[in-house]
Amino acid sequence: MKKVLALILAAIMSLSLVACGSGGTPSSAPAGSGSASASLATTGGKKIGIAMPTKSLERWNRDGSYLQKQFESAGYEVELTYSDNDVTQQVNDIENLISDGVSLLIIVAIDGESLTNVLDTADQAGIPVIAYDRLIMNTKAVDYYVSFDNYTVGVLQGQFVIDKLGLDLKDTSKSYNIEFTAGDPADNNAGFFFNGAFDTLKPFIDAGILKIVSGQSKFEEVATASWDTTTAMNRMQNILASYYSNGTQLDVALCSNDSTALGVTQAIESDYAGKNQPIITGQDGDEANLANIVDGKQSMTVYKAVANEAVVTLALAQEMMSGGKPDQSLTSKFSCECAFDTKSYNNGTGVIPSYLLTPTVVTKDNIQKELVDTGYYKMGANGYPVAIG
Ligand code: BGC
Repeated sequence: MKKVLALILAAIMSLSLVACGSGGTPSSAPAGSGSASASLATTGGKKIGIAMPTKSLERWNRDGSYLQKQFESAGYEVELTYSDNDVTQQVNDIENLISDGVSLLIIVAIDGESLTNVLDTADQAGIPVIAYDRLIMNTKAVDYYVSFDNYTVGVLQGQFVIDKLGLDLKDTSKSYNIEFTAGDPADNNAGFFFNGAFDTLKPFIDAGILKIVSGQSKFEEVATASWDTTTAMNRMQNILASYYSNGTQLDVALCSNDSTALGVTQAIESDYAGKNQPIITGQDGDEANLANIVDGKQSMTVYKAVANEAVVTLALAQEMMSGGKPDQSLTSKFSCECAFDTKSYNNGTGVIPSYLLTPTVVTKDNIQKELVDTGYYKMGANGYPVAIG
């Protein structure tokens, strides 16, 4: 009898889990908090302001569309802005969202340090703020942060290199050449990604097993303004011309994300004299990069299911707007892995409570299982994955 009761209880509990996303269709909202048929009336006519950085980096198009679908399905009105990677425009866009009377702001900062004043205005208007994916620095006006475990993204890239080359600290008979390409210094995430990868590989660098031939090992030296593909390409072309044109072999190009990996791959294709295919890492699962993975030009990408990031953000926003004080207990509602973290993300005014999702390594061998079978992508007629937005 006890067993039957336990089973019934488990079944009831699993019904109230918030399903994490799977591609185009919005996932179910938390129990009692809205559904696809919910109307503006049930949410008190609330409007949500979403400020995205740019359409030019592929993932933010997916994030914007997933977030919009999530919130609209739960009965909210959504105002979604893209600011062309222009900080002044993003400040103007957020000012407009505030004057349009939004009830909550979800912001991906272009420059994490530049929103202090505009968020003071939001604070004075009593509008809560969620920093989405990138932490917003130096303001008390940020209530919560939703992202992936950014340090782990870098660790996964570094560990991939270790596994792929079969590195062993006890075997110093072989050495490999590596170059790093990191992200935008204005993006707080970029340092986390770089440090995760560098810390993981550092013992091998210190042992002389991995050699940075250019000598460029500091974040500031390897950073890429605006995560720009052409900037990353130009820098790698310079490195290849200066350090590898004499036949030196490049074994690894550790790139923090896909937009930079794309530029580095182009540089290697056009300007690398060697015959080997260097290991190239990335992050995001951008379509062009997945095509390169299928073709063997990029080795891996760290995939972050942004559909799930949107699911978590909706549940968090709903609890905030209903007067709750979201904490650890929110995570038990999700069917995807999500940790509540109150230690890692200090924005200069104190630690911002964070909900952190778990990233996954995607290679040619598991694209089908991780991206297609999960419903995030479909396989295009040409054999390359296409995101379901
Ligand atoms: C995101 C990455 C993305 C990068 C450039 C970062 O803040 O976390 O997923 O590749 O911005 O868009």
